[in-house]
Amino acid sequence: MTAMLEVCGLTVNYGRIQAVRGIDFTLETGQISALVGANGAGKSTTLLALSGLLPKAGGQVRFEGEDITRLAPHQIVARGIVQVPEGRAILTTLTVLENLELGAYRHGLKAADDELDAVLHLFPPLKERLHGLAGNLSGGEQQMLAIGRALMAKPRLLLLDEPSMGLAPLVVQEIFRALRAINRGGLTLLLVEQNVCQALKLAQHGYVLENGLMALSGPGRELLGHPRMLEAYLGG
Ligand SMILES: Nc1ncnc2c1ncn2[C@@H]1O[C@H](COP(=O)(O)OP(=O)(O)OP(=O)(O)O)[C@@H](O)[C@H]1O
Ligand SMILES: [Mg+2]
Repeated sequence: MTAMLEVCGLTVNYGRIQAVRGIDFTLETGQISALVGANGAGKSTTLLALSGLLPKAGGQVRFEGEDITRLAPHQIVARGIVQVPEGRAILTTLTVLENLELGAYRHGLKAADDELDAVLHLFPPLKERLHGLAGNLSGGEQQMLAIGRALMAKPRLLLLDEPSMGLAPLVVQEIFRALRAINRGGLTLLLVEQNVCQALKLAQHGYVLENGLMALSGPGRELLGHPRMLEAYLGG
């Protein structure tokens, strides 16, 4: 296996608050990895720092063998690391197609023809509502749109912050099914979730963040059976 992303000693502060305290982790090419943990553990902070949207107070990030620690957000996107933000950040007064077009802003909609086809194939509800306002979509459809918009940027690594948040169980199944399909197509994923059980079932590898520290890591299925996980996250 080859590592796509190697994170070493990552530290992120909000003023005097140390939100992420020197964590190490590796994402293998072609895998789904999950970063799980309770409220306030530092999951979103980690993703925002990887995307360059928060400054790193310490540590190093290597992507495909190159140091990207100090790159600006647009340079990180250009390398192929694209984030689906917490809360989706859909532009509700634009159409579905216009939102997707935003994802393709670096290369233009014409050059993202194949990506558009793939997104509409993956998420049929978006195809039906392509010229409707994004604000009229259901929560699940808005999550599909947020993922679709990220795919339009032709990512090599997709970072997802709580895609299941606020969605009904059946809709969560639908989103996770799509993530599995995206991964089968060759994309590497880092999935941040409070939905620990579902995320670890989906992911080949899991990391557990507690109070800004990496508490546990291992194959997803193995973590599901770990006594500490059962006690702390999986309700016995
Ligand atoms: N803008 C901010 N200013 C100050 N502290 C912050 C800020 N954002 C987050 N924090 C703090 O940093 C810590 C980590 O927060 P973070 O949002 O990364 O957690 P999380 O694991 O994503 O949680 P959740 O599951 O609730 O999304 C928490 O203690 C939080 O209160
Ligand atoms: Mg968060």
